[in-house]
Amino acid sequence: MAKIKIACLPGDGIGVEVMASAKEVLQTLATVEEDLKIELVDFNWGSDHYIETGEMMPEHAIDTLKGFDAVFLGAVGNPALIPDHISLWGMLIKIRRELSLSLNIRPARVINGIQSPLHSPRKFDFIVVRENSEGEYSESGGVIHNGVNEIAVQNAIFTRQATERAMRFAFDLARKRESKVTSATKSNGIVHSMPFWDRVFQEVAKDYPDVKTESIHIDALAAFIVTKPQNFDVIVASNLFGDILTDLAGAVMGSIGIAPSANLNPDGRFPSMFEPVHGSAPDIAGQEKANPIGQIWTAALMLDHLGHLNASKRIIEAIEEVTKQGIKTADVGGAYSTREVTNAICDYLISSAQ
Ligand code: NAD
Ligand code: IPM
Ligand code: MN
Repeated sequence: MAKIKIACLPGDGIGVEVMASAKEVLQTLATVEEDLKIELVDFNWGSDHYIETGEMMPEHAIDTLKGFDAVFLGAVGNPALIPDHISLWGMLIKIRRELSLSLNIRPARVINGIQSPLHSPRKFDFIVVRENSEGEYSESGGVIHNGVNEIAVQNAIFTRQATERAMRFAFDLARKRESKVTSATKSNGIVHSMPFWDRVFQEVAKDYPDVKTESIHIDALAAFIVTKPQNFDVIVASNLFGDILTDLAGAVMGSIGIAPSANLNPDGRFPSMFEPVHGSAPDIAGQEKANPIGQIWTAALMLDHLGHLNASKRIIEAIEEVTKQGIKTADVGGAYSTREVTNAICDYLISSAQ
């Protein structure tokens, strides 16, 4: 297979630490997987770059990224020094928008060796398909009136095209799995966009008569993720609902530090972008406490997307082997550092290949 070219953007805070881990895992894997040839190219864009230059990424950044097979991102945000709306619109959201990454795919399942905080979790394995380009994150609104009676407005724009695209992706994915799609809604008459969301869901469902469907209000769905996560297969959600559900899903797995995500460019015109669900975690940055599994599992999603299915499986196997041995960071009840977990995963990749 041809060499794959990956643009690595560690970003800020623990993004830098977990990116170093995941790169090491990828490089180790390339030494034992004959088919896997990877070129990793680093770009140190982010908050430090902003402090030096006044911009999160240089002007040519998006064009540069278009020359890669995939973009691998750590996390963005240094809220103590730069307001989040500057760092996020200047990098994370800019990349999502300008590379047309309109789908955000976020799996959640029981990982061997990682204890869920639920008392008696049944085995669960579901994927959230999050609409990633509009909805509650639409660029329409702002403070429209100043003074004592200030008014801030956020328009949640739902287009037929983007809504249907997320739903069709969810149905196609369900067909390869347990054939069930749950729609995260809020159609009890309060949020105007949601009856539209429901209508599109019902229409799309007609094209997939073999797939079971259900619609659950987002508030109840959040509760069910805690009380019966095993009931879900594919969940399709709007941008903000999907954002919140996937931190919750990460927590139910054991920690948001292990949750992966893929931001997909559906038509393959531009590279897709892969990043963990978590952020830059300034509260633990620089302390070797960050769980690298979210970033490493994300690397597995990236390899899977690029057609390296075997290499991807090996990463997941290595993660579960190491967690089963109890080599884990503190967020999932262990006493090991970022580096120790990374080394153990790399060691397993080498020893299991012999
Ligand atoms: P966060 O995800 O960074 O942290 C939330 C909590 O989870 C913290 O207590 C943190 O220590 C813990 N945590 C997160 N990742 C962990 C890991 N790998 N191992 C162990 N513990 C982990 O969310 P936040 O505190 O709301 O945001 C911090 C900054 O990150 C903000 O600037 C925010 O905007 C940004 N952010 C960026 C992204 C991204 O770039 N994709 C995602 C979310 C938040
Ligand atoms: C995520 C993050 C981002 C989002 C923020 C940092 C803009 O929380 O990737 O889940 O809300 O999409
Ligand atoms: Mn989030």
